[in-house]
Amino acid sequence: MTQIRLVRTKAEIHELHDGVRNWGGLVGLVPTMGYLHAGHLSLMTAARSRCDHVTATLFVNPLQFAPTEDLASYPRDLDRDLGLAEQAGVDVMFAPDVEEMYPDGSPLTTVSVAQLDARWEGVSRPGHFAGVATVVAKLFSIAGPCLAFFGEKDYQQLQVVRRMAADLDLRVEVVGCPTVREPDGLALSSRNVYLERDERRAALCLRRALDTAIAAVERGERRAEAVTATMVAVVGAEPLAELDYAALVDPATLEPATTPLQPGRELRLLITARVGRPRLLDNAAVTVPV
Ligand code: PAF
Repeated sequence: MTQIRLVRTKAEIHELHDGVRNWGGLVGLVPTMGYLHAGHLSLMTAARSRCDHVTATLFVNPLQFAPTEDLASYPRDLDRDLGLAEQAGVDVMFAPDVEEMYPDGSPLTTVSVAQLDARWEGVSRPGHFAGVATVVAKLFSIAGPCLAFFGEKDYQQLQVVRRMAADLDLRVEVVGCPTVREPDGLALSSRNVYLERDERRAALCLRRALDTAIAAVERGERRAEAVTATMVAVVGAEPLAELDYAALVDPATLEPATTPLQPGRELRLLITARVGRPRLLDNAAVTVPV
């Protein structure tokens, strides 16, 4: 195992990655906000298996937090993150400070992916995806990656990044990696640390809601509203959870699926609920049986 290198400046990343590309090497990028868990590590392992050089980024991006959100208290632990990333085979951790990323303060140029960024998470968190798309566009530009790895857990984010890369002809393959779960089904998230004991148990209603909806589709339910209603009912039965939205959508456009669901069609279930302090997100693929 080679020792991970901590890099703080864009100039160093340019030089390092130019070096890799000059000998024909494939550069893999894993953008994160740190406080790594097994979900992030699975992205790093996927990057390691497909690329000659892996850079992970650790940057808690102020642009994607609303003033009321947890930017200041977002969990951070650089030493722990470096150790975990090294074990996952990461070569370089790019951890710039805010001045390095945004030397002139908030950028005047931002990237927003219309329509995709206005739905679902975009309703509760206006401006969030413009913040994500802008920082990811900058990271792509700084790193010049050949492949970039994102978790399916933040499904809308993955679709926003994919569409941005396609629309702007960015020379990067965006790779989506499956959600990593606790043994009882809870999707891993850095914000799970905020859950109190009872809330941790209550949080399982998200996965339960997705499973119930999948079972309904597989049993032959063809009404989109009825599928969504099963998710609403499961979360509604959990007193510690407050549903934000439950939806059955087209996997690329994220537009609500319409009734009757077409046999053979692949769809995505999205669900978000507040459980205690954190808002928790989950999603799952479902195919309408033929
Ligand atoms: O998913 C995250 O951790 C962040 O939204 C990302 C993609 C690193 C951009 O800041």
